[in-house]
Amino acid sequence: MTKTPDPVSISRRKPVTVARALRRILALDDFERAARRRLPRAIYGYISGGVETDASLDANRAAFRAIGFRPRILQDVSGRDQRVTLFGQDLAAPFGIAPMGFSAVAAFDGDVALAQGAAQAGSFAICSAASLTPLERVATEGPSRWFQAYIPGDDARIEGLLARLQHAGFDRLVVTGDMPIPGNRENNARSGFDAPFRITPQLIWQGMTHPRWSLFTLGREMWTRGMPHFENMEAVQGPPLFSRDLVRSTIARDRLSWAHIRRIRENWPGKLVVKGVMHPDDAIAARDAGCDGVIVSNHGGRQLDGAVSPLRVLADIRKAVPDMVVMFDSGIRRGTDVLKAIMLGADFTFVGRPFLYAAVTHGAPGVAHAAILLREEIDRNMALLGITSPFDLRGEEPALLD
Ligand code: FNR
Repeated sequence: MTKTPDPVSISRRKPVTVARALRRILALDDFERAARRRLPRAIYGYISGGVETDASLDANRAAFRAIGFRPRILQDVSGRDQRVTLFGQDLAAPFGIAPMGFSAVAAFDGDVALAQGAAQAGSFAICSAASLTPLERVATEGPSRWFQAYIPGDDARIEGLLARLQHAGFDRLVVTGDMPIPGNRENNARSGFDAPFRITPQLIWQGMTHPRWSLFTLGREMWTRGMPHFENMEAVQGPPLFSRDLVRSTIARDRLSWAHIRRIRENWPGKLVVKGVMHPDDAIAARDAGCDGVIVSNHGGRQLDGAVSPLRVLADIRKAVPDMVVMFDSGIRRGTDVLKAIMLGADFTFVGRPFLYAAVTHGAPGVAHAAILLREEIDRNMALLGITSPFDLRGEEPALLD
């Protein structure tokens, strides 16, 4: 992972025309407030929520808040450049969009909107295994090269999926390793968003009281493409959203092991990344299995309640695999957060929820706007820190903010 040469500062680029509807969105969190009003409680809760006591969800933000910078002054920061090259791909900024399932029930054509918005802003979105859009369409209309798989511990089923991905043109595969079984999302059960999905009076009432979502997201989605299906779990289309077979389609995920990752490595010619790494020994296992990178992540606080913030383990993981591409997600909401993760060892970062909220409220242009806001924050922060590249922070001792 290298920084591209030829520095061009963001402030010298052509000013971006901000659509009228987006003028009042000044930060990523503004998208959440707007999306919360638009979405039924069950859908908003599914996106925003964590598990059990939300300890890990809260810890993700607290970890960022606890760390501060020691800025330098008078450094001539006029040549600021945040562009990066990741696995040979030139990107406008050191962040992308994390994979998020069910996006198409929250935002109209959500998976394509995320991929298109990211591409417009010079970045990319990872297509989720739990998405409701056929991966072939995300690959062409996105366009997208990154796919995240939830893989069953079953070689025959893995081979079928790998062949399908290659045929569709994906060449970066992210295997999520922190979901042997789903976390305990009590909030989903309470609000009515629970698998297998059932249309309950509670959900009907939420739909009636959120007519914009009912008509322009769910209604339009079903009118345009029919009943949503789990499209991308395996080599063939999975069950429809409201099917009892959903539970069966996740069977054998708890058998997945490093032995499967090694076999995937033998059969997958593209880049291979494991997501959900939280321990230096697992980063070493990923490297020894032939992976090209890891994503240090606690799944946005959505799996094990009590898992520490990945920011707390990032420096140790960096030290354990100094030559590997180490990426990070969970809790990033500001440009300063991206910079803090890079300071502690990340080569690249991902952001989840805020981009999905942007797709909910403003589709692909909203996603692009969110990416530009974050990019501008990073640029401004670099100037105020006295650096010209985010990677100038690498090795700096983080200071305690509170
Ligand atoms: C996710 N995440 C996720 N991860 C994954 O590997 N596959 C998936 O299908 C999903 N689905 C998903 C849906 C929704 C609604 C959310 C919010 C998250 C986790 C995601 O990739 C990422 O790890 C976190 O979202 C990062 O945390 P922040 O940025 O949302 O705080």
